[in-house]
Amino acid sequence: MLKFAPSILTADLTRLKEAIAEAEAAGVDWIHLDVMDGLFVPNLTFGPLLVEAVRRVTDLPLDVHLMIVQPERYLEDFAQAGADHITVHFEATYHPHRAVERVKELGKKAGLAVNPGTPLEAFEPLLPELDLALLMSVNPGFGGQRYIPTATARLKRLKEMRDRLNPGCLIEVDGGVNRQTVAEVYRAGADVAVAGSALFNGRPVAENLKALKEAIYALGDR
Ligand code: DX5
Ligand code: ZN
Repeated sequence: MLKFAPSILTADLTRLKEAIAEAEAAGVDWIHLDVMDGLFVPNLTFGPLLVEAVRRVTDLPLDVHLMIVQPERYLEDFAQAGADHITVHFEATYHPHRAVERVKELGKKAGLAVNPGTPLEAFEPLLPELDLALLMSVNPGFGGQRYIPTATARLKRLKEMRDRLNPGCLIEVDGGVNRQTVAEVYRAGADVAVAGSALFNGRPVAENLKALKEAIYALGDR
């Protein structure tokens, strides 16, 4: 079954603890935290302090997605804050391999993220080292954007690459996953779907999650 990682980006931050408890009770798998620096992406969000606060209110794996330049500067801070998975962007560092190795040295699961405009081959040399391959299906920076349709073919190719080079690595898709697109990404090979606005949108998380799962069951094949 597809795992779900709700992004707190679209949650009500004045009641974050309740929002996370609600998501946990609904049966989500991970909590996804989008860290943005206003440089790698136009938007600014939060740093290790918030990750540390979230750590104190849930036992779910914390999936930290770093959209910051030179992420190696902060890997230790996020590890100490209680991140379980730390994902760096291929485009944000001169040395993605070194950054991934460092995450592993810190005892965390290592992810590499690739933007919609970056050739998929960026994953290839690093795949044997990765725990997580994160394929962006929107340009990073904001929740609530539309899924970029070419992501589906890229997911299929990434799955082939993953099956060949490192079957234990999970494929995560991030951006625009909703009732209309979730079945497509699942069928294309995603193991984990990040969902912001489809899960945290003012309606009950359980209801939203059920709708996403039903969209997959409607396929009838899994
Ligand atoms: C985008 C972030 C995503 C985003 C997903 O830069 O990496 O995690 O919050 O939000 P939705 O699901 O609304 O596209
Ligand atoms: Zn993200």
